Amino acid sequence: MKAREYFIIFSIIIISLIAIGAQYMPSIWWLFILIGPILLIGFSDILQKKHTINNNFPVLGHFRYLLESIRPEIMQYFVETDTEGRPINRIFRSLIYQRAKKVNDTTPFGTQMDVYRNGYEWMNHSMYAKHTDLTKEHPRTIIGGTDCTQPYEASLLNISAMSFGSLSKNAIMALNRGAKIGKMYHNTGEGAISPYHQSEGGDLTWQIGTGYFGCRTPEGNFDAQKFKEKAALDQVKMIEIKISQGAKPGHGGILPAAKNTPEIANIRGVETHTDVHSPPAHSAFNSATSLMRFIKELRELSDGKPIGFKLCIGRTSEFEELCDAMLSTGIKPDFITIDGGEGGTGAAPIEFSNSLGMPLRDGLVFAHDTLVGYDLKKNIKIIASGKILTGFHMVRAFALGADVCNSARGMMMSIGCIQALQCNNNTCPVGVATQNKSLMKGLNIDDKSQRVANFHHGTINSFLELVAAAGLSHPDEIKRTHINRRINMNTVKNYEDLYPLVKAGSLLS
Ligand SMILES: Cc1cc2nc3c(=O)[nH]c(=O)nc-3n(C[C@H](O)[C@H](O)[C@H](O)COP(=O)(O)O)c2cc1C
Repeated sequence: MKAREYFIIFSIIIISLIAIGAQYMPSIWWLFILIGPILLIGFSDILQKKHTINNNFPVLGHFRYLLESIRPEIMQYFVETDTEGRPINRIFRSLIYQRAKKVNDTTPFGTQMDVYRNGYEWMNHSMYAKHTDLTKEHPRTIIGGTDCTQPYEASLLNISAMSFGSLSKNAIMALNRGAKIGKMYHNTGEGAISPYHQSEGGDLTWQIGTGYFGCRTPEGNFDAQKFKEKAALDQVKMIEIKISQGAKPGHGGILPAAKNTPEIANIRGVETHTDVHSPPAHSAFNSATSLMRFIKELRELSDGKPIGFKLCIGRTSEFEELCDAMLSTGIKPDFITIDGGEGGTGAAPIEFSNSLGMPLRDGLVFAHDTLVGYDLKKNIKIIASGKILTGFHMVRAFALGADVCNSARGMMMSIGCIQALQCNNNTCPVGVATQNKSLMKGLNIDDKSQRVANFHHGTINSFLELVAAAGLSHPDEIKRTHINRRINMNTVKNYEDLYPLVKAGSLLS
C-alpha cells in the first residue's frame, strides 16, 4: 500500500470520526473548515493525471514543487562543468520539462553561461543564416549498408536503450507510444521485447545483450530459432548487439531482485525474485572475427534487417581489430552506437560508472576517424549517446561524426523522472523506474507519451534552427570547424584543430 491508498483510508477515517463526533458535539463540523481543503487538494491530486508525484503522493507532493520554487534541485547528472569541475549549467532539466509540456521554451534576459570559463563551447553562426521551415517533416537518415535488404529510415533523435524491468510497464508504454507519435525508434534495452512494447506499435531497435534475454537457451546462450521468430516482427526495425554501455562497461546488466517480478522473469527466461546479472561478455563470439560472423548470422536470421553493435570505447586497439576484421571477412555492421563513459544506468557499481569507459566526445571522434581511416565509414552509420539533451548537444555530436543521436535520461525526464535516484531500489516515486504497481499507476500513458513526442520534436526543431543559423541547409553539412572551445582565457580552439580530420583510407597501409 502506498501514499495514495493511505490518503484515501485516512480521509475515510477522518470523515467518519467527525461525523460520529458531530452526533455528540455539533460544533465539531467546524473542523471541516481546517481539514476540508486538505482533503479536497488530496482528492484532486488523485483525480488529475498531469503530475505523477502529486498523484502518487497526494498533498505531500506539493511540497516538492514548493521547495523547488525556493531552491531548484541541482541537476546532478546533467550539469556541465568547467575544467576545475565546477557546475555551470542547471537549466537543462527545466528545458526538457518545458519542451515535453510544449510550453514556452525560451529564456529571458540572455546568456546563462560563463562564456569565459575554460571549456565553454559555442557554434559559429553565419551572416547568411538560412530560413528553417519547421512545418516540414524532419530530415531522416537511412541505416543499412550494402548487405542489408531492409534498410531503416531513422529519426535524428531516438529513445536510447532502457529495458522493461529497469523501467515500469507504464514507462515503456509511454515511451513506445511516444516513439510512434514522434516517428522515432525505441531501443528495447537488453531486457527483451515485452508485451508493453508491442501493444503500442512504435518502431523498435531490439537490443541483444550478454544475457540474450528473449532469445536465450535454458543455459543462457544465444538461441537462433527464438531470435528468428522475434526478429521477424514488423515492429523490429533494427537489431543492436550490446557489447558494453558507458555507465558500466565490462559489467553485465543488473536487475535487482526487488524488480525481478514473475512477469519480468518469464519474459527474460530467468528465475523470479533473484538478482539478475547478465555476464560481462558474450558467449556467441569472443573475437573481432567471430563478432563479424555473428553479425552475418543475425542478418541472415532477421532476413536482412540492419544489424549493429553498441559499445563504449575502451582499448582502442580492439576497435582497430574490429575494422581489420570487417576488411578481412567483408562483413560490416550497418551501424555502431558509441555510448559515452558519462552514460546512465538503472544500477551499477560506482567505480564502473565513474572511472571506466571513454567519454562520448573522445569515443565518437576515435570511432569515426578510425572508420574513415579504414575507409569503412561510408557503409556504416554512427549513433551517439551520452548526455545528449539539447539541439546544441546534437550539433556537437554531428560535428564529431554522429549520424543519429539517442537519448535515455532526456526521454526519462520527459515522462516525469525527477532524478530521485531510486532506480536501483524499486521505489521511484514517479513510477518510471520501478515495478511497484501502486507507484507506476500515477504515470499517465496518454499524457506522458505525448510529452515524449513533444520533447523529441522540440529538440530536433532547435537542432535544425542551429543548423540554419550556421548557414547550412542540412545537418550533413555540419563540420568540426563549426564548433569552438575555450581552452583558457586567451586560447580558443576550433574542433578541427582539436580533432584533426583523417583522410579516407589513410590507415589502410
Ligand atoms: C534506467 C536506464 C536503463 C538503461 N538500460 C540500458 C540497457 O538495457 N542497455 C543499454 O545498452 N543501455 C542502457 N542504458 C544506457 C542508455 O541507453 C544510454 O546509453 C546512456 O544512458 C547514455 O545516454 P543518456 O546520457 O541520454 O542517458 C540505460 C540507462 C538508464 C538511465
